[in-house]
Amino acid sequence: MRLLVTGGAGFIGANFVHLLVREYPETAVVVLDKFTYAGDRASLAPVADRVEIVEGDVADAALVDSLVARVDAVVHFAAESHNDNSLADPYPFVHTNLVGTYTLLEAVRRHGVRYHHISTDEVYGDLELDDPAKFTPTTPYNPSSPYSATKAGSDLLVRAWVRSFGVEATISNCSNNYGPFQHVEKFIPRQVTGLVDGVRPKLYGSGENVRDWIHVEDHNRAVLAILERGRSGETYLIGADGETSNLDVVRTILELMGREADDFEHVADRPGHDLRYAIDASLLRDELGWTPRFTSFRDGLADTVEWYRANEAWWRPHKAATEAKYAQLGR
Ligand code: NAD
Ligand code: DAU
Repeated sequence: MRLLVTGGAGFIGANFVHLLVREYPETAVVVLDKFTYAGDRASLAPVADRVEIVEGDVADAALVDSLVARVDAVVHFAAESHNDNSLADPYPFVHTNLVGTYTLLEAVRRHGVRYHHISTDEVYGDLELDDPAKFTPTTPYNPSSPYSATKAGSDLLVRAWVRSFGVEATISNCSNNYGPFQHVEKFIPRQVTGLVDGVRPKLYGSGENVRDWIHVEDHNRAVLAILERGRSGETYLIGADGETSNLDVVRTILELMGREADDFEHVADRPGHDLRYAIDASLLRDELGWTPRFTSFRDGLADTVEWYRANEAWWRPHKAATEAKYAQLGR
């Protein structure tokens, strides 16, 4: 199997490449990554001699065509992924998430290559806190932010390329990931690395917002199950029943790092902030036999805190610039 992994220097993509190298050593892996602020060569350093790394843009049609021509399948992780950035400047989101996905779809169509599209639960909008419902594959799309709107658009492009052109493709929509190699702009790494520097965690608004946390390795094992056994044209939701309020996440981090549970501050809320996400992953569980291995969020979070403590050399170069961006937003 020859696999093209886009965005392989980002958080989830790098963990996916590590998993492939560890457990599927017969797979030939080509990484295509633009190395934006979110892509880091250091994340691939431990496997750099085992994979081919190409620096480039997923919207570069000639480059993408030449890479797709020599693989059996594409897993498309590359994206602009951060909601706050999409509120400050939506254009890179339109370019990468929409034009980039279009470019890949045209290439897989030309070459008859299998395609898996990595997407997000945010395409479904949000739920009330007391709503017993969860997102399912038939929940109507209702994205809130420029980020989630471009991801929703990219999913719809994939569906159209399956139906109109017979492209062999699957889509997965996953909930919030945590684990090693996540950029310090994201909620959990921001608070953990802040605490290392003695900065109190910053909760947007009331902190009652709920995210459905899943360990990145569980996400990536689900992607492998879909690649191996998923039905073309199908959408699989990935989640591990990890609903937790931001307030509870912060309190757990504080406890794990030896601080008082109320040692945080409230900061300005994110405009349009989605209230709650929740995933019904029964199709993935029942049809593909996937189950999460990280069943305790607290234990997974403890491992993640330890990873950030032990890998300051990895995150430190990104910290000051990230906090400077937040300072401009007043958050
Ligand atoms: P990330 O921001 O950590 O990494 C994105 C990677 O894509 C980086 O390496 C970056 O350099 C690369 N990239 C950006 N623009 C590019 C371009 N034009 N051409 C080539 N490479 C480019 O993102 P992540 O958190 O690892 O997310 C990966 C995917 O998973 C995204 O599609 C995201 O929408 C999706 N997703 C993320 C989460 C989450 O919790 N992080 C949850 C569900 C789905
Ligand atoms: O649901 C999947 C999505 O999860 C992915 O599609 C996105 O790529 C990924 O970034 C993530 O989106 P969120 O916006 O949920 O993640 P973020 O880490 O930015 O924020 C998580 C929650 O924490 C959210 O409710 C906002 C809040 N937050 C965030 C930061 C950075 C804070 O309260 N304080 C903070 O400092």
